[in-house]
This record gives sequence, structure tokens and C-alpha cells, in this order.
Amino acid sequence: MTIAIKQLHRDFVGQVSGLDLSKPLSLTDVKQIEDGMDKFGILIFHNQNITDEQQIAYTRNFGELELHIGSNVLKADERRLSIEFADVSNLDQSGEVLKRGDRRRMFNLGNRLWHSDSSFRVTPSKFSLLSCRSTPDIGGNTEFSFMPAVYDALNEETKKEIESLITEHSLIYSRGQLGFSDFSEEEKTMFAPVRHALVRKNEFTKRKSIYLSAHIGTIIGWEMPEARDFIREMMEHATQRSFVYSHKWSVGDLVMWDNRQCMHRVRPIRDTAEKRDMRRTTVAGRGPTILQEA
Ligand SMILES: [Fe+2]
Repeated sequence: MTIAIKQLHRDFVGQVSGLDLSKPLSLTDVKQIEDGMDKFGILIFHNQNITDEQQIAYTRNFGELELHIGSNVLKADERRLSIEFADVSNLDQSGEVLKRGDRRRMFNLGNRLWHSDSSFRVTPSKFSLLSCRSTPDIGGNTEFSFMPAVYDALNEETKKEIESLITEHSLIYSRGQLGFSDFSEEEKTMFAPVRHALVRKNEFTKRKSIYLSAHIGTIIGWEMPEARDFIREMMEHATQRSFVYSHKWSVGDLVMWDNRQCMHRVRPIRDTAEKRDMRRTTVAGRGPTILQEA
């Protein structure tokens, strides 16, 4: 079978057919998917009922895996999945739905804010791959905004203004937006802010994009209220419905997206007692977007 990538709904979403993710890929297959990611930013695969091991093996085709340490308030004995996975389910380590007020659930509500995965790391991620193992009937869509299109739609004056801006990202900032602030001293150290360029360029397509994320708390050299107001304006621009694709999940879907080119968020689920089992593997980026402060 040969791989085909069909444009779906929007010019930044591709639907892939002709590939079984439980089987090893040829170098040609990998190249075709990499090219598809550069072109679309988001690729959708249906009917991929894969195991955790198969998801890890597929992810490794695109680079080194990011290990999920230092990215959550989970304690070691609270993990449901291995450290190759970001557990973005609503489940605890025994597979039961987290209680409404559980600290882990409160922290994970931050995923409902528009963000780019791992932008709080010095080396942020390249791709995220999210596999749907179970999903409620209503709600829980993941929405995506394709940032090269968002950048292109800015006026020239704004493009000039943002060209060399540097932002500061931290999980403390994104969670703080929802009023989650009871971090331990250890968590505060783990989530210390990092710096990123606000404008990034795709190495292959040469298209520029705005590197926005809920993790941004300030712009270097700006007063915080002014920075936050400016970032909020950018966010409003970037998330206009005309830029957004909303993915309704079915069991067996795997969606991969380029965090360097996309922002995303998860929408609420109506019935909070229903299980949502989503497992994310992440490909690490090649390096920092800028030099960090000494
Ligand atoms: Fe995410």
C-alpha cells in the first residue's frame, strides 16, 4: 500500500491513508510523513489501534523521544504510563477517573488554554503524537491553529515589532492564569522560566510563525502588564475561528502535529465521570530557540 495525504477541511490539516502504524516504516515512508508535517503541520491517521510500544516505535522515526519528567505535578508513584508518555487522560494510576478537585486534574486543566507542547523547556518539542484509546461521546475535541498562516495575516508594522522579541515561558505562568499557584519549592525550581524567540522560521518551508503559548508570562525588557496585554492581543488574533481546525476524536485516531508551527488546546468534556484515555508521545526538538541567560 502506498501512503496518500489528502488535504482535509483546511489547508493545514492532512489526512493520511495507506499506513499501518503498528508496523515498521521504510525510510521513504518516514520522509513522506516528515514532508507532510512541514507542509500541513497537522496529520490525522484513523483506525490505528496501536499498543504503547508501537506508538513509541513509530515516534522514534522522527527523532529522539522527549521524556515526560519535569512537566507535571505527578508524583513517581502516581504514574499510569511509562515516562515516554505524557498522560493527558482524566485517569489516575489505577485507571479510575480523577476526582473533580484532585490536584492533578486541576493542573491538567491548563491544557484547555492555547499552548505549544513543552514550550516551557529550554529545548522545546518538535512533534506531538496523540493516540485516542477511549473518548467521551460529547466534548474533548482538540483544536489547532496553524501559526504560519497567523503570522502571514499580521500587518507589516506588527511583523517588524515582533521580529526580535524574546518571551519567557513557564508552567507556573500557564497554570497561574487559572489560579493554580500552590507549587512546592521543588516544583517552582523544576518549572523555572525559559526564554524563546517569538518569531520562528521553518527550516524547510522558510515560512515564519509566531511562537505563542499559554506558558508565556512576559516579554524580556517589557513591563509585565504590557507584555501580557500584547500577548493576549496576539492570542486573540491567532485563535480566530478562520485559523482553527477542531478535531473530534474517535478511538484509534492518532493525530501528530508540529509544535513549532501549531498551537492547540483541548475542549471541556460534558460528562466529567466519563473516561478519556489519551496518550501522547513527543519528539524532542533539535535545540533551544535562542541562547538562555547565564
Ligand atoms: Fe498540549
